[in-house]
Amino acid sequence: MRIHPSILSADFGKFAEELKTIATSDSAHVDVMDNHFVPNLTFGLPVVKRLNEISEIPLDIHLMIEKVDTEGPMYADLGVDSVTFHLEASENPLGLARRIRSAGVKAAVAIKPKTDVNLVLDLLAEVDMLLVMTVEPGFGGQKLIPETLPKVAEAHQAIVASGKQISLQVDGGVTELNIAELARLGADNFVAGSAVFGHADRAEQIARLRAAAEMGFTSR
Ligand code: DX5
Ligand code: ZN
Repeated sequence: MRIHPSILSADFGKFAEELKTIATSDSAHVDVMDNHFVPNLTFGLPVVKRLNEISEIPLDIHLMIEKVDTEGPMYADLGVDSVTFHLEASENPLGLARRIRSAGVKAAVAIKPKTDVNLVLDLLAEVDMLLVMTVEPGFGGQKLIPETLPKVAEAHQAIVASGKQISLQVDGGVTELNIAELARLGADNFVAGSAVFGHADRAEQIARLRAAAEMGFTSR
């Protein structure tokens, strides 16, 4: 059960300090938004490059950008831990996943709440992680969309059927109240923005989320 705090909810004025507060997490989730694929703009390659230099924990890059086929590989070449691209944005998802992996970086494919899980089945052989978005991408602090829960179970079953070691990530509205249920349904990798950075003691909150996820896992 891996916890990835999203720095979208951190104080952008002090990333170095904010990253230190989440040192007990598995990686820092970095939301790259281009104001085209989603109606919000965060940071791009130069900032992510610097974050990767100063962070003591690995970076999990979530690309919410339109030109992902050309720009995605540049993030992989920074030597981050993982690069996630959206199926909806890529014209050549198979080629992109292979290109990311060829940089020695984990490749992941993400689907938005209304995108069918069946559309990623062919890609499972070429990725390390599948991200099922549990909110519409673009902003932190939204409520999890309940209709995405059956998709988490469906995605888990598809992964089991593939026989591959693929991590199942959920992102959006994950809190200590729903994380056990998400783990029970098959998620093993949890992004949490406001549920971590909204608390003064981040280490305590990360531990609380992880413990709740473990409980959900044991009830599978
Ligand atoms: C939304 C981003 C998320 C966001 C999650 O588009 O992909 O990573 O930061 O924030 P919370 O956990 O607050 O919903
Ligand atoms: Zn994200």
